[in-house]
Amino acid sequence: MLGKVRILFLSVGFLLFWVAISEVPLGSKLSVVENNYWTSSNGNFAVGFFNRSDQYSVGIRFNSNSIQLCKQTVVWVAGADLTVGNNSYFQLTQNGELVLFDSTRGVVAWTSKTPNSSVASAALLDSGSLVLLNNKREIVWQSFDTPTDTLLPSQNLSVNQTLRAASRNSVSSYYSLHLEGQLQLRWENNVAYWTSTSPSQPISRAILGSDGTLQLLDQRSKVVWSVFGDDHNDSDVKLRFLRLDVDGNLRLYSWIDALRSWRPVWQAIENQCDVFATCGLCGICVFNESGSPLCRCPFKPTFDSNLKCLVRYGNECKSGSLMTAYEHTFLYGIYPPNETITLASLQQCKSLCQEDPLCAAVSYTNDGTAQCRIMKTSYITGQSYPSLRSISFVKKCSDPIAALPISPASSSSSPHRLCIPCIVGVGSGTFVFFFLIQFGIGFYVYKKRNYNFRKAALAFTSPYSNVLISLSFSEIKELTGSFKHEIGPNMFKGTLPSNQRVIVKDLKEAIEGRKFRSTVLKIGSIYHRNLVHLEGYCCESDHRFLVYEFSENGSLATCMADPKLCKRLTWGKRVEICLTVARAIAYLHTGCREFVGHGNLKCENVVLDENFEAKVSEFGLERVHAENDVKDFGEMVVELVSGRREGDDFCKWAYEMWVKGEAEKVIDGRIEGGIKIEQLEKVLRIAFWCLQVDEQMRPSMGEVINVLEGTSAVDPPPPPFTRRRPQQEEESSESE
Ligand SMILES: *[C@@H]1O[C@H](CO)[C@@H](O)[C@H](O)[C@H]1NC(C)=O
Ligand SMILES: *[C@@H]1O[C@H](CO)[C@@H](O)[C@H](O)[C@H]1NC(C)=O
Ligand SMILES: *[C@@H]1O[C@H](CO)[C@@H](O)[C@H](O)[C@H]1NC(C)=O
Ligand SMILES: *[C@@H]1O[C@H](CO)[C@@H](O)[C@H](O)[C@H]1NC(C)=O
Ligand SMILES: *[C@@H]1O[C@H](CO)[C@@H](O)[C@H](O)[C@H]1NC(C)=O
Ligand SMILES: *[C@@H]1O[C@H](CO)[C@@H](O)[C@H](O)[C@H]1NC(C)=O
Ligand SMILES: *[C@@H]1O[C@H](CO)[C@@H](O)[C@H](O)[C@H]1NC(C)=O
Ligand SMILES: *[C@@H]1O[C@H](CO)[C@@H](O)[C@H](O)[C@H]1NC(C)=O
Repeated sequence: MLGKVRILFLSVGFLLFWVAISEVPLGSKLSVVENNYWTSSNGNFAVGFFNRSDQYSVGIRFNSNSIQLCKQTVVWVAGADLTVGNNSYFQLTQNGELVLFDSTRGVVAWTSKTPNSSVASAALLDSGSLVLLNNKREIVWQSFDTPTDTLLPSQNLSVNQTLRAASRNSVSSYYSLHLEGQLQLRWENNVAYWTSTSPSQPISRAILGSDGTLQLLDQRSKVVWSVFGDDHNDSDVKLRFLRLDVDGNLRLYSWIDALRSWRPVWQAIENQCDVFATCGLCGICVFNESGSPLCRCPFKPTFDSNLKCLVRYGNECKSGSLMTAYEHTFLYGIYPPNETITLASLQQCKSLCQEDPLCAAVSYTNDGTAQCRIMKTSYITGQSYPSLRSISFVKKCSDPIAALPISPASSSSSPHRLCIPCIVGVGSGTFVFFFLIQFGIGFYVYKKRNYNFRKAALAFTSPYSNVLISLSFSEIKELTGSFKHEIGPNMFKGTLPSNQRVIVKDLKEAIEGRKFRSTVLKIGSIYHRNLVHLEGYCCESDHRFLVYEFSENGSLATCMADPKLCKRLTWGKRVEICLTVARAIAYLHTGCREFVGHGNLKCENVVLDENFEAKVSEFGLERVHAENDVKDFGEMVVELVSGRREGDDFCKWAYEMWVKGEAEKVIDGRIEGGIKIEQLEKVLRIAFWCLQVDEQMRPSMGEVINVLEGTSAVDPPPPPFTRRRPQQEEESSESE
């Protein structure tokens, strides 16, 4: 053991007091291999490595002689859910930082970030706080300030600090405790499922007293709210802690010497079924007085997946639907945790759902409130017990073999409102419009091979003009130097007579002329900083060409393949590109006069200009639904993060890695300068939401932007690649 017991003189503020602590000098080291640890001088706590299946974490645990090893509960973990390999070590470095070195990845996985704080030593206090002391023996860092899932007696939970439950499967837990004016238990950031009564005074901190009282204090440290366990006056109880448990319940525990075990003496939520999403995707929570709650699936799982229990109706029944009733059952959606509540009668409630093609289930509370909750997701959970005054209806297909999902609207039905001859397109702006009408008529008159006029017209084109030039095939040939410089599949470098460089794309498709022109006119009128502008086009016999503004660094796909350019695609740059592309697509979807889908979003169709700013190209050529672009965006993000282009299978693999908590494995090894783990988590989460096979689950591009910008939180996504399969099934009524 490295600690050395010393009597130290500590001065904190005006107070002077004596404490005995075990001091840890600079350079001291703990390692998995040696299995050594530092202890507090009272022997109640120890800091060292511990096991998490076949990985390790470093943390503080109870260490008292009276507590058997298996009950030495961990109360703090460096980096919360962080785990490291079996050759890792934890060191107080010579420059005064605590660092956790991960042998598996060969990197520093966590640090106390105190290199410039004149740290002279570390110590594990009797309270269970690991502290760093400077040469004036002041505390410059303490583990108490970064709580994980546990609060110890005398430990503060300050405003905006949180406890997060330990994760079950290394994806960070959904459950957290917040202090913002009151104590609140939340499921992700969206749903508050327990709140301490809200005091009128502003709260400055919560504290767990040594007598086992959980208190809220105001600025003057006056107690304004408190709860306590049934043994709070019992002076025989020496060890206590408050923990946000894995199951989302907040509990106060006492060590009962006589029983040699921890006993929960208080819990925030009496009925575990009231904890939001207790049963998650596994069905509904059935209250059981004699034991722990059970998760049951009354809906009959119909998907051949490992998703346990989903309501299966998904807007895909051809021959209508029927509603199956579940008595004494209350249901709610979890992805998203969002539903419409209306006041209605039972019958109205039932038919509201039946008539709404998006509705999957309804819950009606028949306790006098007459609330009808309409759920438009199949990710439904809930609870059931005999005295529960709620009845739910779940929609099912009335034909046993459900039809496939509706296919996107056929592309032949496009309206031809903008049917202008194949001459000149019109952007916005009245002046330009009138100018162009004249110009266009003139143009038309001179179309019979007045080459000089054409040249003048082409020279007129500038990045700021709203003119969309129509070119003949021979002009396309001329400006590309007979297709001399191919810079991508069917893409050529070219120069307009105005010396403006352009990119010419051969569509190699016999799109019907009228349709092509109306599409091109629409595209040509769209302006956005991050959309590649269409300068002109060619629509002559079978030739269909588009002429785009030039971008210096080519497509994102080429940049990723080019070792030199790839160096510039740092982590930060890649995240920025994701956001830029999201903004461009959101503009197409919602910023234009009418909805414009991209239809072919991928790394080839994102180009980088001279400042390495991303611009989206080749949009609007296909009629697609917004959801298709969202999915393509998800794929593009995974590709950009991983640097790999293996499509669906790769995305599946990436998702598996993320679920296992090994998201780092997904990252492109060529990224220089490190990555931000929290950002990676966010980016992958939103990508997997975008990749949901169920289109209704995919977010809008606006929501994607909010997440990437950090203004919205993002829940952990459910498995994206589970296609709901229509399946033969007996239509029995299966009420509970
Ligand atoms: C640590 O994990 C290994 C492998 O899972 C297991 O064999 C061992 O018993 C664990 N040790 C403790 C103290 O839990
Ligand atoms: C450490 O981990 C590696 C890889 O997981 C394993 O091959 C090796 O046997 C482990 N060593 C010990 C001492 O457990
Ligand atoms: C520590 O100090 C050095 C030199 O003064 C400085 O370069 C570095 O950024 C500082 N680090 C932190 C984390 O403040
Ligand atoms: C808790 O907060 C109070 C008030 O800010 C402070 O005096 C006290 O030192 C804090 N306790 C710990 C262990 O940080
Ligand atoms: C807590 O967070 C809110 C919102 O982010 C912020 O306005 C407030 O200043 C924070 N309070 C403290 C004490 O940090
Ligand atoms: C705890 O003890 C105090 C004084 O010893 C007493 O006033 C109080 O009622 C007791 N509280 C409970 C809940 O038993
Ligand atoms: C309640 O839980 C106990 C123990 O887990 C179990 O044996 C019993 O069958 C359950 N009761 C019901 C009604 O499910
Ligand atoms: C909840 O539903 C409303 C209305 O349908 C919608 O505007 C909102 O974005 C939804 N919130 C979440 C978190 O899904």
